[in-house]
Amino acid sequence: MEGGNKEFDFSDKDFEFISDMVKSRVGIMLPYKKKQMVYGRLVRRLRALGIPTFTEYCKLLRDEKKADEELTQFVNAITTNLTGFFREAHHFEHLKSYLQDLQQSKQKSKEASCFRLWSSACSSGQEPYSIAMTVLNSFPSIANIDVKILATDIDTNMLDRAKEGIYHEDAFSKAPPGYMKEYTSSASQESEGMRQVKHSVKDLIRFNQLNLLNAWPMKGLFDVIFCRNVVIYFDKDTQRVLFDRMAEKMHMGAILYIGHSESLFNICDRFESLGQTIYRKIK
Ligand SMILES: C[S@@+](CC[C@H](N)C(=O)[O-])C[C@H]1O[C@@H](n2cnc3c(N)ncnc32)[C@H](O)[C@@H]1O
Repeated sequence: MEGGNKEFDFSDKDFEFISDMVKSRVGIMLPYKKKQMVYGRLVRRLRALGIPTFTEYCKLLRDEKKADEELTQFVNAITTNLTGFFREAHHFEHLKSYLQDLQQSKQKSKEASCFRLWSSACSSGQEPYSIAMTVLNSFPSIANIDVKILATDIDTNMLDRAKEGIYHEDAFSKAPPGYMKEYTSSASQESEGMRQVKHSVKDLIRFNQLNLLNAWPMKGLFDVIFCRNVVIYFDKDTQRVLFDRMAEKMHMGAILYIGHSESLFNICDRFESLGQTIYRKIK
């Protein structure tokens, strides 16, 4: 795909530069077969900036003084954000029984009912909202339960959409029956079919930008981490470091949910598999 009939020339050298930059900053691997996809995602940036060639665009990314704002847009353009409410529904069924069991054991040992959960690549919010709805549905009342869900992603556009919490009703097709009515309301009369996530759900979540490759400012340990459909884009060494860091941030016995095509086999032995891409921290 050297040049061709494309609107902008995209040399292999420019692709290599972009691919190296994405790998070192975001962790995402972009092999040569992704060149066409990268062109498609970045071409809008070139048009928006009025930049005539990819070589010029790479120059901008190299320029430490000018690149700051563009780097955010660059990363936003490169990431793949596919997600959905109650994606991999068995994770949420497991989460519900795990939380109920944990609550019972905390009550028995007279521990405070305190749960910390992290959706570590939350995209446009459907994952953390599914977690929050599951939490609310797990207990008759959460008045005496201290629940906090941290939802992070590198992509600032996705975080804006997540914070807004407005989705088309079709997005809830995989939600358990009754959840859409219970946890969302009609967004407005003008936007037919749009649903707004209720405050009772939103209030459990804090959205923040976080690059998983950088330092994690969170204090305290998590009972549950969702790290789904993100490490699939990372190489094995990056995955090893990441899951080891996650284990460090989890209570013993805490649960890690990963994506359907991901595995910790030969990556991290600090978790035992419970099946169906569900893991428990054991060391
Ligand atoms: C395919 S989506 C998965 C969303 C959700 N976890 C799910 O399974 O439905 C992958 C998300 O990972 C985010 N991501 C990619 N690299 C990241 C990084 N280095 N740090 C944080 N988030 C990252 C992307 O922005 C994107 O929103």
